[in-house]
Amino acid sequence: MHVQTEEQIHCVNSALRAANSSKPLVIEAGAGCGKTTTLQSISSALFQTGHANQLYLAYNSALAAAGRDAFPSGVEVRTVHSAAYRALSKALVHRKTGTVYSKHIIDALALDGRSGIPDKFAYARALLTSMERFCASADNNICLDHIAHWLLHDSISKEQAIADTQSLFQLVSPLSKSNIPVSHDAYLKTWHLLGAPGMNEYDSVLVDEAQDSSAVMLACLEHANNLIAVGDSAQQIYAFRGAVDALRNMDGMRCSLSQSFRFGPEVAILANKLLQKKKVKPSLFLKGMAAKGTTLTAAPKGEAVTKIYRTNAELVKDALMLYDYNRSDQVFVIGDLEDLALKVRTAFDLKSGVQSGKKHPSFFQFKSFSEAEVWAEKYADAEIAQIISMTKEFDSRSSDVVGMLESIGARTKAYKKPPSDAKFVLTTAHRCKGLEWANTIIASDFDKLFTPFNQKRLGSKVDDELNLLYVALTRGIQTVDIRSSYLMDIAKA
Ligand SMILES: Nc1ncnc2c1ncn2[C@@H]1O[C@H](COP(=O)(O)OP(=O)(O)O)[C@@H](O)[C@H]1O
Ligand SMILES: [Mg+2]
Repeated sequence: MHVQTEEQIHCVNSALRAANSSKPLVIEAGAGCGKTTTLQSISSALFQTGHANQLYLAYNSALAAAGRDAFPSGVEVRTVHSAAYRALSKALVHRKTGTVYSKHIIDALALDGRSGIPDKFAYARALLTSMERFCASADNNICLDHIAHWLLHDSISKEQAIADTQSLFQLVSPLSKSNIPVSHDAYLKTWHLLGAPGMNEYDSVLVDEAQDSSAVMLACLEHANNLIAVGDSAQQIYAFRGAVDALRNMDGMRCSLSQSFRFGPEVAILANKLLQKKKVKPSLFLKGMAAKGTTLTAAPKGEAVTKIYRTNAELVKDALMLYDYNRSDQVFVIGDLEDLALKVRTAFDLKSGVQSGKKHPSFFQFKSFSEAEVWAEKYADAEIAQIISMTKEFDSRSSDVVGMLESIGARTKAYKKPPSDAKFVLTTAHRCKGLEWANTIIASDFDKLFTPFNQKRLGSKVDDELNLLYVALTRGIQTVDIRSSYLMDIAKA
């Protein structure tokens, strides 16, 4: 066990005082500043005051698995979704859970037989977006605020859109008996609407990486008897999924953790400078650990490295280069590569007109490649647009790209984390949350978002991009090799 820093001791003492006064405690922390370790110390201190029944909530299942090893057996370790699932398990046992696609919605709401809907796939997709917004919110009823604006055109009334979104939610809710899959967000929302049963059975609830909590999660946490939340506002990277800068919005006592144990001062100084570019200025000044001496240089020759990208397209380009050098068997990609491979295969099939295998459900409605292109443009569908641009870029290498993605995907899907012999770990910034590596490389594709044109276009959303770059920058322990000129210019300034 480490000697606790003064900040950590202050957090533990604050947690005990907060528990006595029935107020939540919110701990604002920087990257690698001992969030999970401090929650462990708080958990032990609360045990000693009689809080025998505790729940620790991790952000995703990989972090929950790590938490299970780190917390004593008296602490239940879950994600918010798994807490919801457990409470609704009697109903969910009869239902399939997973992604809901447009085709499910068309069938479940019998849209084929309905007149007055100009494009039923677009309508289904808009209903899904509207329902997802409702599910992420703390609201009890579906109203116009949740409805996707592109659903509201002449032929569909507001009342109709709300009623259809309501019917869709009822069908995907675990409480109904339909065949449509229950989405993870739908059972979480159902749990919220029922008053988050089970949440108040714990003496204390400890929430890790709380910055990306959505409004619905925060509403569920309101049922906790004693709440301790820790997170890093600057690592909020899921605003597009409904995360709400949870830490700033939470009421309660506050304290902070600013000493990073992961990296040295050189990274901390650059991270602070980077966060100063944000429109909403950071509330925390990050301190590096002198003993770590992390350098902003390339990894020593021959050592394993992890490259962190902004986009899948750039990641795939490098994976293809490694494939060309016969190094694919040393590559590990974080995330569901088989799903990406299927999307890319489907798009290439549409382009060539030859169906070589199964079709990805996201492409179900398209009869041609140009239909997919028109759709992506018309509905600003980022998922389809990304696959289309990759298909165009790798057109001459289609079978290599698909084969490579499928084989890396099949080889690595069994692992929860990269195997120790992985020489090249490739990840997007969104996927590297909570992880760390000895040697990292920051890819150059972050730069596209920081051109003067894009900064103006993004407006306040540029803060989300800066958060992503900050997450990428703060993963390295020994070396951080910066290939982004935008970040390098900040380092030199
Ligand atoms: N007081 C301390 N002194 C030295 N190392 C510490 C201290 N507290 C935590 N650490 C170490 O710092 C690293 C990061 O801590 P962790 O709690 O995992 O951070 P986070 O959850 O913020 O990513 C771990 O290796 C942990 O053992
Ligand atoms: Mg942690």
